[in-house]
This record gives sequence, structure tokens and C-alpha cells, in this order.
Amino acid sequence: MHMRRETVNSYMKPCSPETETHKELFCHLLTSDLDFKNSQNNNFTRHYWHSFPAKFPPELPRLFIKNLVDSGGIVLDPMAGSCVTLLEATLLGKDAIGFDIDPLSLILGKAKFQHFKIEEAYYEGNSVIQRAAHLFKNHRCELEDQLKAKFDEETTEFLDYWFKKETQLELLALLTEIEKVPEEKIKLFLKLVFSGIIITKNGGVTLARDLAHTRPHRVLSKTPVSVFPEFSKKMFKNLQNLKEMPKTNVRLVEANAGAMPVENECIDLIVTSPPYANNAIDYMRAHKFSLVWFGYSIGELTQTRKKYIGSESVENITMVELPSFSNKKVLQLKETNEKKGKSLHRYYSEMSQVLKEMYRVLKPQKACVLVVASSVLAGLDVETHRCLAEIGQYHGFELVHIGERNIDRNRRMMPVSHFRNASQIETRMHNEYVIGFWKP
Ligand SMILES: C[S@@+](CC[C@H](N)C(=O)[O-])C[C@H]1O[C@@H](n2cnc3c(N)ncnc32)[C@H](O)[C@@H]1O
Repeated sequence: MHMRRETVNSYMKPCSPETETHKELFCHLLTSDLDFKNSQNNNFTRHYWHSFPAKFPPELPRLFIKNLVDSGGIVLDPMAGSCVTLLEATLLGKDAIGFDIDPLSLILGKAKFQHFKIEEAYYEGNSVIQRAAHLFKNHRCELEDQLKAKFDEETTEFLDYWFKKETQLELLALLTEIEKVPEEKIKLFLKLVFSGIIITKNGGVTLARDLAHTRPHRVLSKTPVSVFPEFSKKMFKNLQNLKEMPKTNVRLVEANAGAMPVENECIDLIVTSPPYANNAIDYMRAHKFSLVWFGYSIGELTQTRKKYIGSESVENITMVELPSFSNKKVLQLKETNEKKGKSLHRYYSEMSQVLKEMYRVLKPQKACVLVVASSVLAGLDVETHRCLAEIGQYHGFELVHIGERNIDRNRRMMPVSHFRNASQIETRMHNEYVIGFWKP
């Protein structure tokens, strides 16, 4: 007998005792406590190297990987983000494949999976700090010239708005010295530390009040934390308790989840979470704060942002025909707000392609877990979970169950909820849904 939660609505399929063992177990997992309140977190440091919006708690992918993937199995996350699924798969000794189009996700993932000597990284990092502090103190004019030459006008304007001049010079000194590190793996690790002091919930070394908020606010009176001590602190924290990574195969590639470079039917489990509809969480808004330092211009990043699933832009997008409930939601929204309705149509169209791809690459008799939250757009709850469950079934998946869990906002760099004038999107994001699909 499975325990059923009262909060789960009638749209879920009942778990039937005659189903195959694995599917039955999957159903059981989906109906278990997905808040992980009592879990013993294994505190695997690499999970916490860098903030990332809407990051999974490691327990979530771990639950499904541990119970559903046999040795030699491959786990896929087509929208890998901070790579929690891939890292958990690795820790459990499974091979993993991940895709993303976000440049920060790819830097972060690459850095997380590399093997390097901790003492060497610590030594190099400290030496970088010392050299950078010297550069900043004694070669200020050169740094100022470099700063002028490094960025185009629009990017300079962005930097001047969000970073104090002193901070910009300190960051440039740090980056200049990081670039000189001979060992590529350590260099990448240090770049991640560099990015980690900029992108934090409270805006780190920037003038932003809160980078987790959908719209960061500049606070001119803010005294941003000082770059060198912050870098040192973050580096030390990231290197602490660092365990050796098990040697498994991990492939993280820049690719669109809607056209994955993966053969048919070779994946044993998918655990993923797509972006929210209509850009409710705008990844690029926070990520550009560090990506500009790695050579991306604001213009380029604006173009990349349009490619994200969930982006509001509907230029050059192929809209697909949706199954009835999803179509009804889009039409309802279009009636009150044509623009938002079109963006929602884009979101479901792209997610339809992603679900089709996920079905293609998954082996038969295997599970796919999709974690989503709903949004209220122009006053309408678009019921993302119900729509995506419907679209998944349209592509051949069986819907096993939709679990529900609370979002721990403090831990997940999500927009905060306690503002008096919070938008409807913000007030809605208290829970999320864990859609369990089965490929027959
Ligand atoms: C909710 S986040 C994933 C967070 C992840 N579960 C974690 O634990 O960190 C969604 C991810 O989808 C990525 N994404 C957006 N559009 C994409 C696309 N077309 N193809 C692949 N990834 C995409 C975003 O860059 C973002 O990293």
C-alpha cells in the first residue's frame, strides 16, 4: 500500500499494485516525503561552491538515482544548471550526461567535475591574492587603462552602474593574476571562486542589494564586501572538506535540451528541472554580473538570454499545437494579456520539444522526473505542472504520479516572498511539483 498525500490532487494516476517492480518503486518514491526535512545531508562541499537560482536540494536527485539506477546506468539532466543531478550521479558511482546553454552553468559544471590537488589550489590561490593586492596597490594607472580597453561601451556602463570603481580595479587585478596560473584546472577553480564572490544572494562585491531577487536593486549606500578577503574566504570554504571525486564518466556539453546530441534509448534515468514560464527566474540577470568579467559583452548576453526556455521573446520561435488543457490555458491568458499568452505558448512549445527528446533518449521501462513550479501570469495560474504532465503524456509517457514539495527559498536563491508588494509570481512560489513520467 502506498501512502498518499492529501495535498496531491485528483489528476494523478493511482499506483496500481500489479505494475512492474521498478515502476511501483518509482510511484512509491514520488509519494514519499520530498521535503527531506529529516535527511542527513552528506554536506558534499562541491554542491555549494557557487549560488545558482532554483538549485535542487541534493537529496532530490539522490532519491531517484539511488533507487532506480543499476550500476553502469547513465543519468541525464538536459537542463543541468548547477549540475546537482550530475554530481549526485557521480557520487553514487553512475555515469552522467548534462546539457545547458547558460555559460555560467557550463563553467561551473566543468570546474566541479575536475580532479586537482587541494594543497596546490590553496597555494596558487593565496599567491594570486598576494600578487593581485600588489598590482592594485602599485600599478593602479595600468589597471585603469586595462579596464578602459577591456570592455565595450555598453558593458562599461553596466559595470559602472553595478560596481564601485575600486571594486572593478580589485576584480581586474585578481582576474589578471588568475589568468597567469599555469595549471588549467586550478585556474578554472579560481575563476569559479571569483564568480562566487560576485553572484551571491546579497549581491556580494557588487552594489546590488539582492541578486536572488528577479530585479536586483542598486544601493549606492551599500559598502560592498572587500574583494581580496572575500576571495580568500570563499576559496578556503570551497576547499574545506573537499573529498576526492569518484572516477565516473561525466559529459557536460553546451546544447539545447530540445535537440540533444544523444543516441536513442540509451539513458537510464532523467532528473531535471526546466526554467519557469515567462522568465519568472531570470538566470541571466544575475549571471551577467560575473560573465562580463569572463569576456562576454552585455550585447552578447542579451542575445543568449533570448534563447532560454521561458524567455518572453517570441521572435523566430516555432509554436506547436498543444494538447487541450495546455492550449486552453494559453488561450485564456491571451484573452487577458496577448503578449504574456504568446510567451506562454512559446514556453509550452519548447517544453513539448524537450519532452519529446527526453522520451526519445530514455530506455523503455525507465523513469523521468521533471520538477516544476507553477506561475500566476496576469492573474491566471497557468498550472505548469498539469500542462507539462499533459504534454509529456501526449508524447507517449505514462504519468505515474505528481508529487509536491515545499521550496526552501533560503537555500535555493529564489525570489524572496515577504515583500508587501510582492508580485503574484513571487507569492506563488512556495511549492513545486515533482512530475513522475514512465516510458512504457
Ligand atoms: C531550474 S534551472 C536548473 C537547476 C538545476 N536543477 C540545479 O539543480 O542547479 C534550469 C536550467 O535550464 C537551462 N536552460 C534554459 N534553456 C535551455 C535550453 N534550451 N537547453 C538547455 N538548458 C536550458 C538554464 O540555463 C538553467 O540552467
